[in-house]
Amino acid sequence: MSNTTTNLFYLVTIICFILALRDLSKPAKARRGNWIGAFGMAVAIVVTLLHKDMHIGWRIPVGAAIGAALGAVGARRVKMTAMPQMVALFNGVGGGAAALVSLAEFHNLTPLPGHLHGDVSVSIALSALIGSVSFAGSMIAFAKLQELIGGRPITYPGQQFGNLILAAAIIAAGVAITVGAEQQWIVVALIVGALIFGVLFVLPIGGADMPVVISLLNAFTGLAASATGFELDSNVLIVSGAIVGASGTLLTLMMGKAMNRSIGNVLFGAFGSVQASGGAAAVEGTVRSVTAEDVSIMLSYASKVVVVPGYGLAVAQAQHAVRELADELEKKGVDVEYAIHPVAGRMPGHMNVLLAEANVPYPALKEMDEINPEFPQTDVVLVIGANDVVNPAARSDPGSPIYGMPILNVDQAHQVVVMKRSMATGFAGIDNPLFVDPKTAMLFGDAKDSVLKLVTGVKAL
Ligand code: TAP
Repeated sequence: MSNTTTNLFYLVTIICFILALRDLSKPAKARRGNWIGAFGMAVAIVVTLLHKDMHIGWRIPVGAAIGAALGAVGARRVKMTAMPQMVALFNGVGGGAAALVSLAEFHNLTPLPGHLHGDVSVSIALSALIGSVSFAGSMIAFAKLQELIGGRPITYPGQQFGNLILAAAIIAAGVAITVGAEQQWIVVALIVGALIFGVLFVLPIGGADMPVVISLLNAFTGLAASATGFELDSNVLIVSGAIVGASGTLLTLMMGKAMNRSIGNVLFGAFGSVQASGGAAAVEGTVRSVTAEDVSIMLSYASKVVVVPGYGLAVAQAQHAVRELADELEKKGVDVEYAIHPVAGRMPGHMNVLLAEANVPYPALKEMDEINPEFPQTDVVLVIGANDVVNPAARSDPGSPIYGMPILNVDQAHQVVVMKRSMATGFAGIDNPLFVDPKTAMLFGDAKDSVLKLVTGVKAL
């Protein structure tokens, strides 16, 4: 296949990727978006293999078969709660591949003095550097989330200074390559240095901050792939790498904004290594505990109920039970909606994915800005395994680490039922004044057990 035909087909791939991203941003169309993206990728692979300069041999089919089999089995078997580490793994190998391609290109071009042009050497240095950081960082993120190593931030004296020196050395190696140094050991040293930097960069970040870091590393991998595109003269790699880089960067910024944390604080703040509640006002008041029977009566006589799912719902795998409860309530004429906070749970879209698994209809899922004005007209809010995303201290306590984070204003509803196992804190490690609000009732227990009791209770009424 000629260069022109190849590039025309690559345009199809690029359009598919853009359409896929558009659909992926809406739960109702996300599945279609995934298929469009996969189709675009298939076109790119086939067209690349059919290019006139391609020598397929046996290595490419064998490598592709092994990779496809591992990917398919992994994606089928992975539990929803393990999705962030799966993304970290996939992302990491992408970065590693970009680094290996740059090593190979350097190896191919340097025996021919004068063939390593300026633009290519810059691309080689960039993709080797960024790809290696992304690979090593993603592997540490995977190990933390998979609990192969401790999830707490690992910090030691002089850490930032050490990282700075290492970063300076790696950049010096990169500059040497770009100004024409053609010794292979420099590119190897750059890759080894960048791998060590990737490890040191992610170790001090708390396990629960990993989704933000993974999104950032994802952006890095995109940039590394884009740089690889310049080395290989591949338009599809340049554009799709840039799309990944841009969307990863946007997602990182959006997550930071929704948590009211700067990306600097996520990356260098070692969140979770110390008790975060230092400056927050102490929460005092009486906790009112209720039984599932009381809550069943409350729900059955309500006309509007809003469910607020959180991390605990995912841990308890209570999504199917919640759907059952909503069905029972709807049979009684109760209007049931779900309030989705952008950072509820531990990964972007966590609650949407969970509820979609239980076939909760998409129109019932309301985003924060849409549902907040509705709380004053809501009879009962059921907070299921959520904590930080409903903490009113974010609005009222300037000393709180989450002060300024937009929250779901559930305390404005007529009655609030919080379902969790204890008075324990959530991800941010801070007390929640909602739990001692006079209109709040606590239903203690595992979220799934409690919801199933409510289903029985509501059915019996
Ligand atoms: P959290 O504030 O983490 O609170 C979850 C609550 O669930 C805990 O207080 C826990 O209390 C309860 N829980 C745990 N297991 C349970 C079970 N089996 N049954 C019932 N309850 C259970 O959750 P959230 O409100 O969803 O907020 C998410 C937090 O994660 C935010 O601070 C956010 O900034 C952060 N974060 C989010 C993301 C993304 S992208 N979503 C990424 C990184 C960090 P008990 O132990 O008392 O049961």
